[in-house]
Amino acid sequence: MSTHPSQIAASALVDRLPVTLPRLHEMKRLGDPIVMVTAYDFPSARAAEAAGVDVVLVGDSGAMTVLGYPSTVGVELDEMLMLARAVRRGLRTPLLVGDLPFGSYEVSDEQAVATALRFIKEAGCDAVKLEGGGPTSCARARAIVGAGIPVMGHVGLTPQTATALGGYRAQGRNADAAARIAAEAVALQDAGCFSIVFEAIPSDVAALIMQRIEVPVIGIGAGPSTDGQVLVFHDLLGIREGLGARFVKRYANLQDEMAAGVAAFAGDVRTRRYPAPEHGYGIDSQELAAFAERSRA
Ligand code: KIV
Repeated sequence: MSTHPSQIAASALVDRLPVTLPRLHEMKRLGDPIVMVTAYDFPSARAAEAAGVDVVLVGDSGAMTVLGYPSTVGVELDEMLMLARAVRRGLRTPLLVGDLPFGSYEVSDEQAVATALRFIKEAGCDAVKLEGGGPTSCARARAIVGAGIPVMGHVGLTPQTATALGGYRAQGRNADAAARIAAEAVALQDAGCFSIVFEAIPSDVAALIMQRIEVPVIGIGAGPSTDGQVLVFHDLLGIREGLGARFVKRYANLQDEMAAGVAAFAGDVRTRRYPAPEHGYGIDSQELAAFAERSRA
C-alpha cells in the first residue's frame, strides 16, 4: 500500500516544537522559506496546524472573508479578539499573530499598547501586527515592543489605508515610492519589529529592499526574494467569489464544493432521499409497543 504525501507530513508533525521568534530568525539565516497563512476560526486553525505552517495571522482580512464587511476598515477590536480566541483554541505549534484593526492603535502609544495587550492576554496571541511604516506606525510599534510584545510590521499595500494609497493597487512602482517603502521598512526594523510583511510591491523593488533588512520578511505579492510567503486562507482555498489579486495562487475551489454540497443536501431533502433509514435512531420493539399503547390511552 502506498503512503499519501499528506500522511508523511502528518507523521512528521507529531513532535513539532512551537515556532518561536529565534526559530524564525534561524530560518532566515538558513534560507528556509517561512510559511504563513491567515486563519479566522477553529477549523482554519486546525488546517494550518495539520499543514505544519510556521506562522498564523489572524488578519483583519477576516473582516471581509468571514464577517462580510466591504473592506477591513469597519471591523471592531472585539470582533478581531473573538476570531483570535477561536484560532488560539485550534493551534499548538505555529506562532500566532493578531492583526491590530484600523482605529485600535493610531490615536496614542497608550491606546496601541492597551490594544496589543488584549490580543496577548485575552486571545492568547504571541505577537501583533500593525500596518504602515510612517512616523505614527513606527512610534506605536516601538511602544508595543517596549511593553514586551513582539510586533510584525507591514509595508507596501496596506489595506487599512488603501483609500489614501489610491486603492487596492501595487505600491512602489516608481523610484520615489520604492524609496519611501524602503525607508519605512528600515524604520520599522529600527523600531524593533521582529518581522515585516511586504505586500504588493514589484519583485525587483522587494529584492533591493531585502538587502537592507535583517529581520524575517514575509511577502504577499512581493516576489520570491522575501524570507517567506503569506496568503489569505480563503484566497488560496477558493472560499470566495471571484479570483482576487494577481498574486493569489489557488490550491482548491472550496466555495464551489461547499455550494455543490449544500445543493446536494437540498436536493435530497426535497426528493425525500434524506434521511435514509441509516440516519435514524432505533428503539426496542417492546418499548415501542408500550409507548404506542400509552399514546392511545
Ligand atoms: O489581514 C491580512 O490578511 C493581512 C495579510 C494579507 C498579510 O494583513
